[in-house]
Amino acid sequence: MIDIEGLYFNYDNEAVLKGLDLHIDARSTCAIIGPSGCGKTTLLYCLAGLLKPSGGRVLINGEEVKGIRRKTGVILQTNGLLPWKRAWGNTALGMKARGCDKAEIQKRVSDALKELDMLSHKDKFPAQLSGGQRQRVAIARTLVTEPDLLLLDEATAALDAITKEHLQNLLLRIYYQYPITMVLVTHNIEEAVFLGQSIVIMGEGRIRHRIENPCFGDKDIRSKPEFYSICAEVRKRLAEGGVL
Ligand SMILES: Nc1ncnc2c1ncn2[C@@H]1O[C@H](COP(=O)(O)OP(=O)(O)O)[C@@H](O)[C@H]1O
Ligand SMILES: [Mg+2]
Repeated sequence: MIDIEGLYFNYDNEAVLKGLDLHIDARSTCAIIGPSGCGKTTLLYCLAGLLKPSGGRVLINGEEVKGIRRKTGVILQTNGLLPWKRAWGNTALGMKARGCDKAEIQKRVSDALKELDMLSHKDKFPAQLSGGQRQRVAIARTLVTEPDLLLLDEATAALDAITKEHLQNLLLRIYYQYPITMVLVTHNIEEAVFLGQSIVIMGEGRIRHRIENPCFGDKDIRSKPEFYSICAEVRKRLAEGGVL
């Protein structure tokens, strides 16, 4: 699905991505973890086609990413909801922009809000929703556009511990429910181990290590010892990379 080949990115004179190679299979999830400032957001923006690489390239299904791709959905930490639109209107936004017909919008928006347990809040404005609820609307808004690739940038970082776990559970459910590939960047070890089928450790603009995660897919894994041993391994690899 995704092939990153010799990816470089510079902001002015600062080299941020320094030669990244990574393959991500279709219908898998990949968690990219690394400390603040290591270039995760920059990498995700290159995957989304929002930033143009300074060198190398990103291929999605064999095609070089040269701009925003219709089938790529992006969820950011700040969810980007329009404050003057209700949950329903915000969710329908992408479909309306694409000129979808009204009955189709009705059906898909209602299905997505239901899937994210937000149908009962459909008439609320973003300011009347909690942080977790706002993120769920942002996810619903992306799902209705039927992406095959979902990119998440610290999507749960602003949430409290319990809401964070709820949203992570929901994301796992969505991964199984929809035919998507999921790439998430995070600085949270537990999140990477819960949501990443493959866990990529990043440090200073490079990939340091990759772990295939045997725990992935078990929604009850957090209460099992295996979960903590993978977390410990990720922590160790981060430390080895000199990034912890
Ligand atoms: N718009 C920008 N202009 C200049 N430098 C930037 C910009 N955005 C990010 N950077 C720098 O690039 C580096 C990587 O940033 P970023 O990709 O946001 O890291 P992360 O998401 O891992 O925290 C940081 O040193 C940051 O200061
Ligand atoms: Mg970031």
